[in-house]
Amino acid sequence: MYFCAKVTDLISWIGVNDRRTERFENYLPLPEGVTYNSYFIDDTRTCVIDAVEFGTEGNYFDRIENLLNGRQLDFLIINHMEPDHSGSIFDLTKLYPAMKVVGNKKTLEMIRCFHHKFDESKFMAVTEGEILDLGHHKLTFAMMPMVHWPESMATYDTTEKILFSNDAFGSFGAIDGGIFDDEIDVTKYEDEMRRYYSNIVGKFGIQVSNAIKKLSTLEIKYICPSHGILWRKDIARVIQFFDNWAKFIPDEEGVVIVYGSMYGNTARMAEALARDLSIFGVRNIKVYDASKVDASFIISDIWKYKGLFIGSTSHNNAVFPKIDPILSKLQNYGLKNKFLGIFGNMLWSGGGVRGIQSFADSLPGIEVIGEAIEVKGAPRREDFIRLENLARKMACKVLCKEIDSELTACANNSCSL
Ligand SMILES: Cc1cc2nc3c(=O)[nH]c(=O)nc-3n(C[C@H](O)[C@H](O)[C@H](O)COP(=O)(O)O)c2cc1C
Ligand SMILES: [Fe+2]
Ligand SMILES: [Fe+2]
Repeated sequence: MYFCAKVTDLISWIGVNDRRTERFENYLPLPEGVTYNSYFIDDTRTCVIDAVEFGTEGNYFDRIENLLNGRQLDFLIINHMEPDHSGSIFDLTKLYPAMKVVGNKKTLEMIRCFHHKFDESKFMAVTEGEILDLGHHKLTFAMMPMVHWPESMATYDTTEKILFSNDAFGSFGAIDGGIFDDEIDVTKYEDEMRRYYSNIVGKFGIQVSNAIKKLSTLEIKYICPSHGILWRKDIARVIQFFDNWAKFIPDEEGVVIVYGSMYGNTARMAEALARDLSIFGVRNIKVYDASKVDASFIISDIWKYKGLFIGSTSHNNAVFPKIDPILSKLQNYGLKNKFLGIFGNMLWSGGGVRGIQSFADSLPGIEVIGEAIEVKGAPRREDFIRLENLARKMACKVLCKEIDSELTACANNSCSL
C-alpha cells in the first residue's frame, strides 16, 4: 500500500506498509506486517522526518516528488540510524544534492559506520533543544539515548505540537487503511506496541522513564512514531503504557504460564495450574507451550501480567532448549516486579527446575512464590495438590486477597488427574 495521508494540512504521512518481511530485525515474527513511517512537512523549507527500510520504498520517492511539486527537499531528519529508518538516506541524498541530513553527533558516527562514502558536508548536527526553523514550523529535538540506540532522538514540532517519537510508541502491524487511533479499533496495535516495546526496548526501562520525564513538559497533540498507527485520541493513555512498561508495572491482573515439555508431563502440570488459577478467580490466564509460540508473544504477555509460572522438563542437566532463550532474554532485560512460580519434570538428576531457580536467583526484583515443584515423570495426586497450593499462592498475590479455603480443585475431583 503506497499512499499519502494527511496528518495535518501541512504534514503528510508518507510511510510504507511492509507485509512481506517475515521477521523484524530478522528474528521477531510479523504476522500482521509492519510500517516504516516517514513524514513530509510542507513549508518554506521542506523537510522529511525519518526515511524507510532499504528495499521497501515502492513509490516513496515519487510521493516525495509530488509533494515537493518542483521544489527542493531541504532537510531529512534521521531520528535513529537503524536501517529501517535510514535505509533510503543515500537515494535521497542523490536525488536532492542540496539536502541536509539532520541528526546528532552520534548519528554521524553511525552514518560513518554504515556508509563509508557519505559526504559529511551534507550533515547538519543538532543538539538538545536547538530550533530548526522551516518557516512556519519550528522544530526542536529531544535526545533519547538508549531508547533504544545511543543516537536515538525525537523531533518535536513546536508549531503544531506534534511529537515525532521514532521507535518510542511504535507498534508492529501494518496500517489497514486508518492511520489514526480514532479511526480504528486499537486493541491489535496496543498489543503489538507492547510486543515491540518488551522485545526491542524492554532492556532500557530507566532510559525510557527519563525520556518520558523529559517529554512530559511538552504539549503533545499527536504522537507520530516510526512504526504503526499515529496517536491523537488519548495521548495520556499511550504515554501511561510506556511509563508502566518501563517500570514493569502490569497492565492487567493475570498470569502467564509458559512451559517446555517433550512427553507432556510438564504440560500436564501447566494445565493443572491454569485450571486451579481459574477456580481461584484469576480471569486472565495465558498458557504457552514454548515449543509452539514464538518467544516474542510470550515475553509481551509477561510484561502485561503480574504473575508468571515457568515450567521446564529437564534436558541434558539443563532447562529445555525452547525455554532457555526466554530465560536468557528476561535475564538480559533485568525482569522485575513479577511473582514467579517454578515447576518442572525430570527422570534422573533433573536440570529444568534447577535452571529456572538459578534464573530467579539472578533477578533480585522477582518474588518467587512458594517452593518449586519438581515431579518425576507422570504427576500423581499429591503432585496436583502441591500444584494447587502453588496456584492458590499465586492467585492470592495477583488478586491481592485471600482465597476462600472452600475453593479447591483436587478435593472436589475437578483437578487434572
Ligand atoms: C534429550 C533428553 C535429555 C534429558 N535430560 C535429562 C536430564 O538431564 N535430567 C533428567 O532428570 N531427565 C532428563 N531427561 C528425561 C526427562 O526430563 C523426563 O523424561 C521428564 O519426565 C520429561 O518431562 P516431559 O514429559 O515434560 O517432557 C531427558 C530426556 C531427553 C529426551
Ligand atoms: Fe530501532
Ligand atoms: Fe524502528
